[in-house]
Amino acid sequence: MKKWFSYFVPTLAVGLILSFTGCKKSAEETAADGNTIKVGEFASLTGKEAAFGNSSHKGTLLAIDEINAHGGVLGKKIALVYEDNQTKPGESATIVRKLISRDKVVAILGEVASGRSLEAAPICQQNQIPMISPSSTNPKVTEVGDYIFRVCFTDPFQGKLIANFAKQTLKATKVAVLTDVASPYSVGLATYFKEPFTANGGTIVADQKYSGGDKDFKAQLTAIKAANPDAIFVPGYYTEAALITQQARQLGMNPPFPLFGGDGWEAQELIQIGGKAMENTYYSTHYSSEAESPMVQDFVKKYKAKFNGEIPDAMAALGYDSAMVLADAIKRAGTTDGPKLRDAIATTKDYVGVTGKTTLDANRNATKAAVVITVKDGKFKYVETINP
Ligand code: PHE
Repeated sequence: MKKWFSYFVPTLAVGLILSFTGCKKSAEETAADGNTIKVGEFASLTGKEAAFGNSSHKGTLLAIDEINAHGGVLGKKIALVYEDNQTKPGESATIVRKLISRDKVVAILGEVASGRSLEAAPICQQNQIPMISPSSTNPKVTEVGDYIFRVCFTDPFQGKLIANFAKQTLKATKVAVLTDVASPYSVGLATYFKEPFTANGGTIVADQKYSGGDKDFKAQLTAIKAANPDAIFVPGYYTEAALITQQARQLGMNPPFPLFGGDGWEAQELIQIGGKAMENTYYSTHYSSEAESPMVQDFVKKYKAKFNGEIPDAMAALGYDSAMVLADAIKRAGTTDGPKLRDAIATTKDYVGVTGKTTLDANRNATKAAVVITVKDGKFKYVETINP
């Protein structure tokens, strides 16, 4: 896979990389050298969760392009040095070690998935290199240490809002849960859903498990059907969520019977893989491109212009905000020195971004509104915004 990317070198290689990631060549091109500030990024650009990594990466690229077009930070341009972890366990740790020791990046952006952020976080912490996850929601990620931040909400918030949504909007009192036990995100979100749901009088009538990468869920779904739930909660990622929904429909749990999930469902692939089965499914996420705010609409316009008319999803928006929050902190720190940069990120307050205002609390987490999306007539459709 590509080793690193200096955002400005006008070589054929860069041209190829740019066409691979779907973006056009930047207007301005400079080598990553003494006159640039190197920022690292690790992402799942290929493999099972490639949709996550590519969206987040494109949002990040757009932000850095804009920052550089406005003169960069501390009088220097930012060079993004990025690597693909191929969605493979173990790769993120290796990559982040390299970004720090070989490339000497001053900070790290990544990852989308909590499991891969958890692999990299201890390495950043040990090396005093600040890491900002755009969209990992599991609480454990930032608990790794004081160099680890996120610009999104956490799963205790997300689990609770999904529990309320299930009860109030879906009118579900009996819910079956199907958890990916190989994913810290999924295991966490299942727990953070079950606690408030049962505390509010709901019942978990079936609690089934799978492992990320599985393709056949018929046994679990047969057991779930026998328990006669009002709805199924699938706190996993889009590939399995789509297959699970398809197989649930095949077993007779047809629309309007609802299945629902969290932000892990967010990808066009959900509909591409699941097709018609996805009608009347719901998930919570961080942002909607349908929001009318000028900030969001401006972002959508710029993103579409840069990436062949593609509409940015939540990962793209959070990737963008994560790079902007970092650049803002570098400016305020006046240096890229690890401890000072860490302190500046920690004091991020009311930073206005595409996904709302980012204020980092004492635990280095952000508090933000969530949105609920449904699938209707083969398209994602905004349902409601839920404030913290
Ligand atoms: N929140 C998920 C995790 O922590 C990742 C994710 C973020 C997925 C945003 C989709 C959208 O693993």
